[in-house]
Amino acid sequence: MRFRINRSSSTPAYAAPEEPAPAPAEQTLEPEAVEAPLSAHETALVRASVAVVEPMAAEITVYFYAILFARYPEVRPMFPPGMDAQRGRLLRALLRIVDLVDDPENLVRFCGHLGRDHRKFGALAAHFPAVGECLLDSLARYAGPAWTPDIAAAWTKAYGAVADVMISAAEQDEAVRPAMWAATVVHRVPRGHGIAEITVRPHIPYAYAAGQYVSVETPWWPKQWRYYSPANAPREDGTLTFHVRAVAGGAVSNALVHRAAVGDVVHLGPPMGDMVLDAAVHNDLLFVAGGTGLAPIRALVEEIARRGGRHQVDLFLGARTGAELYGVDDMLRMAQRHHWLALRGAVSHEYVPGIRGSLPEVLTEYGPWYQHDVYLSGPVPMVVSASEALTLHGTLPEHIHHDPFDTPVLSVP
Ligand SMILES: Cc1cc2nc3c(=O)[nH]c(=O)nc-3n(C[C@H](O)[C@H](O)[C@H](O)COP(=O)(O)OP(=O)(O)OC[C@H]3O[C@@H](n4cnc5c(N)ncnc54)[C@H](O)[C@@H]3O)c2cc1C
Ligand code: HEM
Repeated sequence: MRFRINRSSSTPAYAAPEEPAPAPAEQTLEPEAVEAPLSAHETALVRASVAVVEPMAAEITVYFYAILFARYPEVRPMFPPGMDAQRGRLLRALLRIVDLVDDPENLVRFCGHLGRDHRKFGALAAHFPAVGECLLDSLARYAGPAWTPDIAAAWTKAYGAVADVMISAAEQDEAVRPAMWAATVVHRVPRGHGIAEITVRPHIPYAYAAGQYVSVETPWWPKQWRYYSPANAPREDGTLTFHVRAVAGGAVSNALVHRAAVGDVVHLGPPMGDMVLDAAVHNDLLFVAGGTGLAPIRALVEEIARRGGRHQVDLFLGARTGAELYGVDDMLRMAQRHHWLALRGAVSHEYVPGIRGSLPEVLTEYGPWYQHDVYLSGPVPMVVSASEALTLHGTLPEHIHHDPFDTPVLSVP
């Protein structure tokens, strides 16, 4: 099947109106009165076909990349050499985006974000028809007789809608900021337990907000982007410090912890994430961090100090053992400097002086927290269980802030 994307104007009918003034950081396309790109019948057709193909997603992914790289070898270098773990993300996104075809506002928001982020991969408008063609051919092959001309037409429209939003967002983004930022490693401090602090200086200014995270590409694993949270509020000298923990068998984290040296150059993608101070509605804040999850929390503490300490902050650090209680000395120093910061460390698997218990247990004991905005950061099970314990005791879910668990760009609103 040959695939064409209809882009009669630079702004698609269902995209947001043009932004009045380009912001230096991420432009958000604010959708107003956006029309759904598909009719209710077309949406139902697309959804029904997803239900047919979803169980075969793994096979479809293999087939999709095989035909994409065979038909369009020029796109192969854009993808990582070994694609095992990440392979499914693009297809998974496409299948999930289908959930948004009758929710145009979120479609624009999510795909706009995706389009801007795709600039760092080198994706160009001209690549979209190729991906669309291979996607539809793959779906057709695996859906078998369930793939009717009506379904094919509805999918063509749905993919076109998504591609249009991504391309428009990327084009607008191109006018205001680079696709990625080169940054030189200027400092590297091993912190024990497989953790290192890596400070980089971007070659051109990099605007971000405390609490956000950044995708990083290293010279040792080209095209393998991983997310790390700066542990500092924006500094005058423009440097960012990441706290990286080497995970067993992990490619990028081990390279950063054990191999990176002063002078090495990495690339940063655009900043992401909503775990920022301006998201808080309350003055009292509860910060909860486990392991290197402390990084964005530390940045938020610095940001509060920078703004004059107008929040009351309770900070809980959690770990299994006392030795694993990461960053406690640093935070103690901060708590001594700032009267508005109260620090508590909780250890779950060892008897040490101080608080004993898992973070959810300790939070429950020290609550209530329903008049606080809560910022959670750390291992996924900790964030999930702390969040459950807090909601159980009255904290509203909309006042609990945390980063996405997996591939952030796949966190469909
Ligand atoms: C929003 C966000 C912010 C993050 N911030 C930080 C940060 O500030 N500091 C930091 O050190 N990491 C952070 N991470 C995790 C980081 O992005 C990488 O996932 C991690 O460094 C592993 O990458 P890798 O290339 O070394 O491992 P991969 O080669 O991708 O994976 C190797 C193996 O490790 C497993 N694995 C992957 N990630 C983890 C993990 N986090 N814990 C345990 N096992 C894992 C995989 O399942 C796989 O089996 C963040 C992740 C997200 C989504
Ligand atoms: C509607 C169309 C598309 C959707 C929904 C989509 C979605 C995605 C998603 C969700 C990811 C994972 C991102 C991440 O992990 O941070 C991804 C990665 C990627 N996409 Fe797309 N994409 C689309 C089109 C394209 C096109 C046209 C190209 C250009 C050839 C492209 C190239 C890539 C590359 C190179 C990656 C990184 C792959 C990896 O790390 O394994 N994508 N895409």
